[in-house]
Amino acid sequence: MINVSPISEVLGARIAGVDLSQPISDDLFGQLELALHTHGFIVLPGQSLTPEAMVRFARRWGRPEPHVIDTFHHSADPNVLILSNVYKDGKPTGLADAGTYFHTDYSYLADAARCTMLYAINVPTGRNGTCFANQALAYDQLPLSTRARLDGLMVNHHYGNRDDLDPSSRTVASLLNDHQKKKVDWVSHPLVRPHPFTGQKALYAVSGSSFSIEGMSEEEGRTLLDELKAHATQDKFCHTYDYANGDVIVWDNALLLHKAPLIDLSRPRELWRVTVKYN
Ligand code: SIN
Repeated sequence: MINVSPISEVLGARIAGVDLSQPISDDLFGQLELALHTHGFIVLPGQSLTPEAMVRFARRWGRPEPHVIDTFHHSADPNVLILSNVYKDGKPTGLADAGTYFHTDYSYLADAARCTMLYAINVPTGRNGTCFANQALAYDQLPLSTRARLDGLMVNHHYGNRDDLDPSSRTVASLLNDHQKKKVDWVSHPLVRPHPFTGQKALYAVSGSSFSIEGMSEEEGRTLLDELKAHATQDKFCHTYDYANGDVIVWDNALLLHKAPLIDLSRPRELWRVTVKYN
């Protein structure tokens, strides 16, 4: 049996003693899966992974899908996206500021993503972590009348951050080149999504890629999305997890919003990321 230690009152658990450089048993995977569905994110510290081992672990959860920004795919495996603010020979080695606003990974795609994992390779000490917001708790704490109003609503999503479209800003969505722009289009998702495994209801991606609501004027939809975002990102629903080198984190995109930190760019921060679809 693994030892699952909750990290905060709202989210997260730490599970020490698992070696992801080796294949894991079905029994162990089942325990990790239960922990993820219960806690929203799990941290497995002390890892030393190759891209191959990271992707093998990712495949336990579903089908890894390479990020639309192919510029920073790992040369050993395109499923691994390099997140880095480090420059080498005057060129960026990875994607810096990868989502510094509350968002849900791949909510701009027609098929939602199950989970995302990050492997912390070289992170600065102190505040360096991702902030997570528990969207099931946020949904549960809405008045019943609001919940009834949200039922059945569909939201229009597109790659981007509806609150910041300024290409020179650090909180804009990472910029796409012309080739990458052609790969994204409008998609829709339910505003309230039952968890595909547990059925637990949560607000889905009310910040980030959500721009309007089907059947409402632009203004009415935006106002509702803005109200929900303000509610869903209150401190009481959030926890920031600061990484140590060797941490692997897995988070459940059906349960959480998250945002990357806006750290001082002179402090190197390098992680690998894999995002996994349901099938
Ligand atoms: C992400 O949103 O995938 C990146 C999170 C981070 O860099 O903290």
